[in-house]
Amino acid sequence: MLIKFRKKSDIKESALTSESFYNNRRTVIKGLGLAALGLPFANQAKAGLFDLLSDKKDDSDRAASQFKRSLLTYSKNSSYQSLTPLTPEKKILQYNNFYEFGTGKADPFASSQQFKVDPWSLTIDGLVDKPITLHYEDLLKRFDIEERLYRMRCVEAWSMNIPWLGFTLASLIKSVSPKSSAKYVRFETLYDPKQMPGQASRRIGGGIDYPYVEGLRLDEAMNPLVMLSVGLYGKTLAPQNGAPIRLVVPWKYGFKGIKSIVRITLTDKAPLNTWQQIASNEYGFLANVNPDVDHPRWSQASERFIGEGNLFSQSRKATLPFNGYQEEVAELYKGIDLRRYF
Ligand code: MTE
Repeated sequence: MLIKFRKKSDIKESALTSESFYNNRRTVIKGLGLAALGLPFANQAKAGLFDLLSDKKDDSDRAASQFKRSLLTYSKNSSYQSLTPLTPEKKILQYNNFYEFGTGKADPFASSQQFKVDPWSLTIDGLVDKPITLHYEDLLKRFDIEERLYRMRCVEAWSMNIPWLGFTLASLIKSVSPKSSAKYVRFETLYDPKQMPGQASRRIGGGIDYPYVEGLRLDEAMNPLVMLSVGLYGKTLAPQNGAPIRLVVPWKYGFKGIKSIVRITLTDKAPLNTWQQIASNEYGFLANVNPDVDHPRWSQASERFIGEGNLFSQSRKATLPFNGYQEEVAELYKGIDLRRYF
């Protein structure tokens, strides 16, 4: 595996907030590894880091060559409209994890603008009575699109507030009539090394065995919070955010939110998700946001919120159990030791 992780002892969380850190930032950045800035997945995040430090504006050449996003018709779900402040759209579009396009935070934006999402089809199969392959347009016709403002908490201890557009995964699963033997849902990202440089090169793709795979228990998947997202900030998704369709599970770490999905399979066995394959002692199957269970190499008690401003003006806030969605989901884990099954 190519990813080189730093030891927990290398990461000084307190250094991120102190005034002296702000004043000495140039020295600190030189002296510490990128992991110290909350980027432990990545070993090559320089470009993303640069964006964060400079908070630089779009340049017009870049904007002109950008993937075109279309406006979507949607309603606002009034139960999920009160989250503030939202993360600025530009940050959501330019600070990403999508290893198929490289491991740096700016790589997905830089390398995905020519990604082809039309035509796109999504197959739902496995332990269902009515397996189906739907084209992207069919999805938009079949399901009403709504907007929900959700917190997203990455396992790397940064977070965003995102106005997602999409529909519930439950509505899609119900429409294929799951068999009673179905217990889990397995998701798979497109495998297309010609379009995804990280799949063509283990060095660019962080040594992952693609396609990227994720999974949920069926009862989790049916929870009304879980969305299949087709857009954000009023428009269709950009490639770097997982166009044309990605998963959003707001009470779990962001890596569960698998992007550019082509297949959803109902199974009777727990799927081995990608990050579990890489380091099962660090990334579990459930991956519920939990401030009380630290990652083996860093604390999960707090997070850096990505809002307006740059790395030095962004604040840390306490991480909430189940990322603040405890009321809606805690029941799903009654009687489970969440330290052991993390
Ligand atoms: N899906 C695929 N296929 N490949 C990835 O590398 N990264 C995950 C998740 N989905 C990833 C993925 C991680 S680690 C996070 S935090 C979120 O996507 C980031 O979503 P965003 O870039 O839209 O904020």
